[in-house]
Amino acid sequence: MLTFEEIKKNVEVQTYLKYADYAFSSMGHKEHGSSHALYSATVACQVLKDLGYDERKQELAKIAAYVHDIGSLIGKEGHAQSSAVMFLNIINEDRYDDDVFAIVSAIGCHEDKAFAPVSEIAAALVIGDKTDTRYERARTKDPFYLDKHGKVLLACKKVDIVVKKEKMKIELHLKIDTMICSVMDYFEIFMARTNYCKKASDVLKCNFELYINEDKFL
Ligand SMILES: [Fe+2]
Ligand SMILES: [Fe+2]
Repeated sequence: MLTFEEIKKNVEVQTYLKYADYAFSSMGHKEHGSSHALYSATVACQVLKDLGYDERKQELAKIAAYVHDIGSLIGKEGHAQSSAVMFLNIINEDRYDDDVFAIVSAIGCHEDKAFAPVSEIAAALVIGDKTDTRYERARTKDPFYLDKHGKVLLACKKVDIVVKKEKMKIELHLKIDTMICSVMDYFEIFMARTNYCKKASDVLKCNFELYINEDKFL
Protein backbone atom coordinates (compact mmCIF):
# COMPACT_ATOMS: atom_id res chain seq x y z
CA MET A 1 0.00 0.00 0.00
CA LEU A 2 1.29 3.43 -0.99
CA THR A 3 2.47 5.51 1.97
CA PHE A 4 3.52 9.10 2.50
CA GLU A 5 6.92 8.05 3.83
CA GLU A 6 7.58 6.03 0.67
CA ILE A 7 6.77 9.01 -1.56
CA LYS A 8 8.71 11.47 0.59
CA LYS A 9 11.80 9.22 0.41
CA ASN A 10 11.41 8.58 -3.33
CA VAL A 11 14.54 9.84 -5.09
CA GLU A 12 12.65 10.93 -8.21
CA VAL A 13 10.21 13.00 -6.12
CA GLN A 14 13.10 14.60 -4.24
CA THR A 15 14.86 15.39 -7.53
CA TYR A 16 11.73 16.83 -9.15
CA LEU A 17 11.07 19.09 -6.14
CA LYS A 18 14.67 20.28 -6.10
CA TYR A 19 14.73 21.20 -9.79
CA ALA A 20 11.20 22.64 -9.78
CA ASP A 21 12.43 25.00 -7.07
CA TYR A 22 15.54 25.88 -9.10
CA ALA A 23 13.29 26.74 -12.06
CA PHE A 24 11.01 28.95 -9.93
CA SER A 25 13.99 30.57 -8.27
CA SER A 26 15.47 31.50 -11.65
CA MET A 27 12.16 33.21 -12.54
CA GLY A 28 12.24 35.09 -9.22
CA HIS A 29 9.13 33.25 -7.98
CA LYS A 30 8.55 32.11 -4.41
CA GLU A 31 9.82 28.83 -2.96
CA HIS A 32 8.27 25.77 -4.62
CA GLY A 33 10.40 22.92 -3.30
CA SER A 34 10.25 20.48 -0.41
CA SER A 35 9.27 23.13 2.16
CA HIS A 36 6.08 24.07 0.26
CA ALA A 37 5.43 20.37 -0.41
CA LEU A 38 5.72 19.48 3.27
CA TYR A 39 3.64 22.42 4.47
CA SER A 40 0.84 21.58 2.00
CA ALA A 41 0.96 17.89 2.94
CA THR A 42 0.89 18.59 6.68
CA VAL A 43 -2.05 21.00 6.43
CA ALA A 44 -4.02 18.77 4.02
CA CYS A 45 -3.66 15.81 6.35
CA GLN A 46 -4.45 17.82 9.49
CA VAL A 47 -7.62 19.36 8.00
CA LEU A 48 -9.04 15.91 7.20
CA LYS A 49 -7.95 14.57 10.59
CA ASP A 50 -9.59 17.44 12.45
CA LEU A 51 -12.80 16.92 10.48
CA GLY A 52 -12.86 13.22 11.40
CA TYR A 53 -11.98 11.65 8.05
CA ASP A 54 -10.39 8.19 8.17
CA GLU A 55 -6.62 7.70 8.29
CA ARG A 56 -6.33 6.38 4.76
CA LYS A 57 -7.98 9.49 3.33
CA GLN A 58 -5.65 11.66 5.43
CA GLU A 59 -2.67 9.74 4.05
CA LEU A 60 -3.84 10.07 0.43
CA ALA A 61 -4.34 13.83 0.85
CA LYS A 62 -0.86 14.04 2.39
CA ILE A 63 0.70 12.22 -0.58
CA ALA A 64 -1.24 14.25 -3.17
CA ALA A 65 -0.31 17.52 -1.50
CA TYR A 66 3.35 16.57 -1.24
CA VAL A 67 3.73 15.96 -4.97
CA HIS A 68 1.18 18.47 -6.31
CA ASP A 69 3.78 20.82 -7.85
CA ILE A 70 6.49 18.41 -9.07
CA GLY A 71 5.47 19.26 -12.65
CA SER A 72 6.68 22.83 -12.15
CA LEU A 73 10.01 21.33 -13.18
CA ILE A 74 8.66 21.22 -16.74
CA GLY A 75 6.92 24.60 -16.63
CA LYS A 76 4.44 26.66 -14.66
CA GLU A 77 1.75 26.50 -17.34
CA GLY A 78 -0.17 23.23 -17.05
CA HIS A 79 1.91 22.07 -14.10
CA ALA A 80 -1.08 20.48 -12.35
CA GLN A 81 -1.43 18.05 -15.25
CA SER A 82 2.31 17.44 -15.65
CA SER A 83 2.57 16.80 -11.88
CA ALA A 84 -0.23 14.21 -12.11
CA VAL A 85 1.39 12.41 -15.06
CA MET A 86 4.84 12.49 -13.45
CA PHE A 87 3.35 11.00 -10.27
CA LEU A 88 1.73 8.21 -12.32
CA ASN A 89 5.09 7.53 -13.97
CA ILE A 90 6.83 6.87 -10.67
CA ILE A 91 4.22 4.28 -9.64
CA ASN A 92 4.51 0.85 -11.25
CA GLU A 93 1.42 -0.05 -13.26
CA ASP A 94 0.86 -3.18 -11.16
CA ARG A 95 0.25 -0.84 -8.19
CA TYR A 96 -2.44 1.21 -9.93
CA ASP A 97 -5.60 1.17 -7.83
CA ASP A 98 -8.37 3.46 -6.55
CA ASP A 99 -5.94 5.21 -4.18
CA VAL A 100 -3.46 6.04 -6.93
CA PHE A 101 -6.19 7.44 -9.17
CA ALA A 102 -7.72 9.45 -6.30
CA ILE A 103 -4.30 11.06 -5.79
CA VAL A 104 -3.84 11.68 -9.52
CA SER A 105 -7.17 13.45 -9.98
CA ALA A 106 -6.60 15.57 -6.86
CA ILE A 107 -3.20 16.70 -8.16
CA GLY A 108 -4.58 17.34 -11.65
CA CYS A 109 -7.33 19.71 -10.53
CA HIS A 110 -5.42 21.76 -7.96
CA GLU A 111 -5.20 24.86 -10.17
CA ASP A 112 -8.76 24.68 -11.59
CA LYS A 113 -9.89 27.68 -9.56
CA ALA A 114 -13.13 28.14 -11.49
CA PHE A 115 -14.45 24.77 -10.30
CA ALA A 116 -14.92 22.98 -7.01
CA PRO A 117 -12.15 20.46 -6.24
CA VAL A 118 -13.14 16.97 -7.43
CA SER A 119 -12.97 15.21 -4.06
CA GLU A 120 -12.35 15.65 -0.35
CA ILE A 121 -8.72 14.69 -0.95
CA ALA A 122 -8.45 17.40 -3.63
CA ALA A 123 -10.16 19.92 -1.32
CA ALA A 124 -7.69 19.24 1.48
CA LEU A 125 -4.80 19.59 -1.00
CA VAL A 126 -6.15 22.97 -2.15
CA ILE A 127 -6.37 24.26 1.43
CA GLY A 128 -2.81 23.11 2.14
CA ASP A 129 -1.50 24.61 -1.09
CA LYS A 130 -3.38 27.90 -1.34
CA THR A 131 -2.92 28.93 2.29
CA ASP A 132 0.86 28.63 2.07
CA THR A 133 1.63 32.33 2.26
CA ARG A 134 4.49 31.91 4.74
CA TYR A 135 7.10 34.64 4.58
CA GLU A 136 9.83 32.00 4.50
CA ARG A 137 8.88 31.36 0.86
CA ALA A 138 10.03 34.82 -0.26
CA ARG A 139 13.40 34.59 -2.05
CA THR A 140 14.87 37.57 -0.28
CA LYS A 141 14.06 39.33 2.95
CA ASP A 142 14.66 42.77 1.41
CA PRO A 143 11.33 44.14 0.08
CA PHE A 144 13.26 46.44 -2.27
CA TYR A 145 14.06 43.47 -4.51
CA LEU A 146 10.56 41.94 -4.45
CA ASP A 147 7.52 42.47 -6.65
CA LYS A 148 4.09 42.93 -5.06
CA HIS A 149 3.52 39.16 -4.78
CA GLY A 150 6.86 38.75 -3.01
CA LYS A 151 6.18 41.67 -0.69
CA VAL A 152 2.82 40.22 0.35
CA LEU A 153 4.53 36.94 1.19
CA LEU A 154 7.25 38.69 3.12
CA ALA A 155 4.58 40.53 5.11
CA CYS A 156 2.79 37.29 6.16
CA LYS A 157 4.51 36.74 9.46
CA LYS A 158 2.15 34.05 10.71
CA VAL A 159 -0.19 31.58 8.99
CA ASP A 160 -2.54 29.42 11.05
CA ILE A 161 -5.25 27.06 9.93
CA VAL A 162 -7.86 26.39 12.61
CA VAL A 163 -10.48 23.71 12.01
CA LYS A 164 -13.61 23.85 14.18
CA LYS A 165 -15.40 20.60 13.55
CA GLU A 166 -18.33 21.34 15.84
CA LYS A 167 -19.10 24.50 13.83
CA MET A 168 -17.91 23.02 10.51
CA LYS A 169 -15.55 25.94 9.99
CA ILE A 170 -12.09 26.20 8.51
CA GLU A 171 -10.40 29.41 9.58
CA LEU A 172 -7.30 30.98 8.09
CA HIS A 173 -5.59 33.39 10.50
CA LEU A 174 -2.89 35.65 9.07
CA LYS A 175 -0.61 38.13 10.73
CA ILE A 176 0.39 40.71 8.14
CA ASP A 177 3.08 43.31 8.73
CA THR A 178 1.38 46.39 7.29
CA MET A 179 4.71 48.21 7.19
CA ILE A 180 5.57 45.89 4.28
CA CYS A 181 2.23 45.66 2.46
CA SER A 182 -1.37 46.71 2.96
CA VAL A 183 -4.28 44.34 3.54
CA MET A 184 -5.59 45.51 0.13
CA ASP A 185 -2.36 44.28 -1.47
CA TYR A 186 -2.98 40.89 0.10
CA PHE A 187 -6.45 40.72 -1.45
CA GLU A 188 -5.19 41.90 -4.82
CA ILE A 189 -2.68 39.06 -4.98
CA PHE A 190 -4.52 36.28 -3.13
CA MET A 191 -8.23 36.84 -3.87
CA ALA A 192 -8.49 34.00 -6.41
CA ARG A 193 -6.70 31.65 -4.01
CA THR A 194 -8.97 32.72 -1.14
CA ASN A 195 -12.07 32.01 -3.23
CA TYR A 196 -10.66 28.63 -4.15
CA CYS A 197 -10.20 27.83 -0.44
CA LYS A 198 -13.86 28.71 -0.02
CA LYS A 199 -14.84 26.27 -2.78
CA ALA A 200 -12.61 23.61 -1.22
CA SER A 201 -14.20 24.17 2.19
CA ASP A 202 -17.65 23.75 0.62
CA VAL A 203 -16.57 20.29 -0.60
CA LEU A 204 -15.67 19.49 3.01
CA LYS A 205 -19.09 20.87 4.08
CA CYS A 206 -17.41 23.70 5.97
CA ASN A 207 -17.49 27.48 5.89
CA PHE A 208 -14.19 29.19 5.18
CA GLU A 209 -13.29 32.23 7.26
CA LEU A 210 -10.36 34.58 6.82
CA TYR A 211 -8.91 36.66 9.65
CA ILE A 212 -6.12 39.18 9.08
CA ASN A 213 -4.50 40.71 12.17
CA GLU A 214 -7.52 39.42 14.10
CA ASP A 215 -10.09 41.23 11.94
CA LYS A 216 -12.57 38.99 10.15
CA PHE A 217 -12.68 39.64 6.40
CA LEU A 218 -14.62 36.62 5.18
FE1 LIG B 1 0.38 24.41 -8.19
FE1 LIG C 1 1.60 24.66 -4.77
